[in-house]
Amino acid sequence: MQVTTEKLIELLNHDLELEYSAAIQYINHAAVMTGAAYGDIIKELKIHANEEIQHAMILADQIDYLSGLPTVKVGEIKTSKENETMLKQDLAGEEDAIRRYKVRIEQAEALKEFALAQQLRTILATEQEHAMDLKQALGQ
Ligand SMILES: [Fe+2]
Ligand SMILES: [Fe+2]
Repeated sequence: MQVTTEKLIELLNHDLELEYSAAIQYINHAAVMTGAAYGDIIKELKIHANEEIQHAMILADQIDYLSGLPTVKVGEIKTSKENETMLKQDLAGEEDAIRRYKVRIEQAEALKEFALAQQLRTILATEQEHAMDLKQALGQ
């Protein structure tokens, strides 16, 4: 689990790429999703998009603090013509983020980067809320 600061910067930059792609994916899904039954979740997806941008800002600042160079690369974006497929794509992204941030918190603490760990915990809590919103919309 122990990593060097250089390795942690590399991993945080991967997280940052995926925050950018999550924001874009949510903007796209909120725009193309249709149907009266999806009105509430469409509003939630727009909120998620803004929260992913907030996460990207936090990660970019933290990478800079660690003397790293924040990436401007964007990760893979998934979309579909089917509402339910889009929600499943979003949920898969959130579940991946939850897995990554749990590991990242432990790695930050091992390096005694406690402020970073605290920021990552805040991000993790939001990703868990996102996953719950999506599960509810999927009837899971
Ligand atoms: Fe996020
Ligand atoms: Fe999220």
